[in-house]
Order: sequence, then C-alpha cells, then structure tokens
Amino acid sequence: RWQSSLPQLDHVADRSNEESGGEIDWDNLGFGLTPTDYMYVTRCSPEDRGDFPRGELCRYGNIELSPSSGVLNYAQGLFEGMKAYRRPDRAGYTLFRPEENARRMQRGAERMCMPAPSVEQFVHAVRQTVLANRRWVPPQGKGALYLRPLLVGSGPILGLAPAPEYTFLIYAAPVGNYFKEGLAPINLVVHDEFHRAMPGGTGGVKTIANYAPVLRAQMDAKSKGFTDVLYLDSVHKRYLEEVSSCNVFVVKGGVVATPDTRGTILPGITRKSVIELARDRGYKVEERLVSIDDLVAADEVFCTGTAVVVAPVSTVTYQGERYEFRTGPDTVSQELYTTLTSIQMGMAAEDSKGWTVAV
Ligand code: COI
Repeated sequence: RWQSSLPQLDHVADRSNEESGGEIDWDNLGFGLTPTDYMYVTRCSPEDRGDFPRGELCRYGNIELSPSSGVLNYAQGLFEGMKAYRRPDRAGYTLFRPEENARRMQRGAERMCMPAPSVEQFVHAVRQTVLANRRWVPPQGKGALYLRPLLVGSGPILGLAPAPEYTFLIYAAPVGNYFKEGLAPINLVVHDEFHRAMPGGTGGVKTIANYAPVLRAQMDAKSKGFTDVLYLDSVHKRYLEEVSSCNVFVVKGGVVATPDTRGTILPGITRKSVIELARDRGYKVEERLVSIDDLVAADEVFCTGTAVVVAPVSTVTYQGERYEFRTGPDTVSQELYTTLTSIQMGMAAEDSKGWTVAV
C-alpha cells in the first residue's frame, strides 16, 4: 500500500525543484534546525493490525497530538538519525546503510511495544523525504541533509499501557558539524554522579527516553567549558559507556578498542562501520569492557556517530585530572574519518562494501 505514493512524490519533488534555493549560509551550517519543505507521515491505527499504511509527504510543520498521547505522557518513542550527501557528480544523493537504521528501529520498537515500518517502507520513506527536500541538501563538502525518522505512540492513553495509535514521521534539516568545535578535537568530562543507562534498561535502543536525562550533566559540563560528557557504567562506575550522543573508541599501540554493546550502549551504525573499516586497514579491533584506566593510558580517543561522524578527543577530565590524547594528522581517527567520509559522500573510487544507496 505504501508504495503507491510514488506518483505523489513526483509531483512534490517537481514543486520543490521550482522553488528557489533559500537564503541559507552553507558555510556556517552547524547542527541547528533549519526547517525544510516536506515531511513524511503515516499513522498506524488498531485496524491496521501493526502495518503502517501508505504515507504522505506533507508540508513540514506542527503535528496534532493528543495531550494524553503515549509519547507525551510515557515517552513511548524512538528516533533515528541518518544523512544524505550530494554526490560529487551532482547526479543525485547518497544514503549510508539506511536498512541498518530501519532494522534498529524495528528492534527498538519491539523493546518499546510499538509496531514498526518494514525495512522497505522505511527506506522508501527516507528516499521520498530526501527527494522532496532536495534543494536543502548542502553542496558537496558543506554538510549533509540530516534525516530524523520518528516513531511515536501518538494515540491517547491514560493508564500505563501501549498507545492505541502510532505515528511514523520523517523530517529533514541541512546540517554541518555537530560540535561547535567543528572538526577540531573536543574536550570531554566524566560525570561522577549521573549515568546514561543501566543493565536491563533501554540504553541499547534509540528511545527518546535516553536523551533528556543526559541534559543535566551536559549542561553542567558545558558551563565548565567542556564539549560533552563521557559516561561510565552505572554498576562498577569504571567502564566506559558512551558520550551523550555518540560511541567512544580508544587507541593504544595501534590496537583500537570500544565498549561492546551489552544492552546499555547504543549499537551505532557509524560504530559498526568504523570497526569494519579499521579491521580492513589492518588494525586489531577489540569490542570489550574498556575501563577508565584503559582510557587514561590511551594514545588516542575518538567518538563516532551519525551526527558527529568521527570526532577526535583531545582531553578527558576525570576526577579533576585532565588527560591529553594525540589528535591531528597521522592519527587513527583521522585515517578512519577520511576512509568513512569518502564512502559516505560518494567520493571513494568504489563503494566495495555496498554501503551506499543512491537516491
Ligand atoms: C545521531 O548521531 O544521528 C544521533 O541520533 C544523535 C543525536 C543526539 C544527534
């Protein structure tokens, strides 16, 4: 059913093309919200029996939500983050492993008791959203069109239970670098009081409920001049988990290590890709418990994520001590950044991994 929205897409895309490029300063995008033209929306009611009907591209704008919706009252919701890059030959756009986002949303939906779109429907919807907003895809080298798929319990519910109706929505915004430092190395602080996730919780799925709880620690860190917070595990308070919005890696003597995902850590698609690329390039990569002592002794530390890509870390402050790490040319993080982004931006000679999807 959802596939039949293609004719409508042609209409919308044509219209988008006619409109002028806007007053956007492509050189200073950052990660702020620039509203775009269209969003994709579909709703799944009880009579749909868990299948999302064909979606529609609507004008980007506010949505109507019951005050007693599951998402507003009980945070029954998931999100994803993806990027579309303009191809160097200017013919179209490139998505990076979109089926992985679709599958992660399905796993999250299972955890949060929600129906999820099929992989095919998800990817189709993302492509439609990119095409309808194509005038907002930044020029090559200036950034990407960030796609934000949302899956939320939109139906009304008062007692704690799964919502009766779900909304799957995708909006888009052109973005540049995530951190205010741009591509420059970042400075992290380990928070000694707050944790991001706990065993048995939802740290391993991309629920919206994982993100507001980090704001207190993030604001404290920013007020002290740090870029963001590095979290330790909530049981031993000793093992690295992740940064507020990305996964973390340490490098020591050419060995790359990152916390293994045991339910408290988000299985990042950039994380997974970077592990594979590092192995291809001859590095030993270990997915294991990585202690704060490992970090302190590391040569390099870097973060990975869709929004942050591969971000080098120059300092980590832990219990008042500031530890410094190698950054800049000839670092593992620099090498992996270049390898990854040349694939994502469609600049690699060939995508031998088959990770990119043309739009
Ligand atoms: C992403 O990297 O796309 C994310 O979802 C993290 C978000 C907090 C910006």
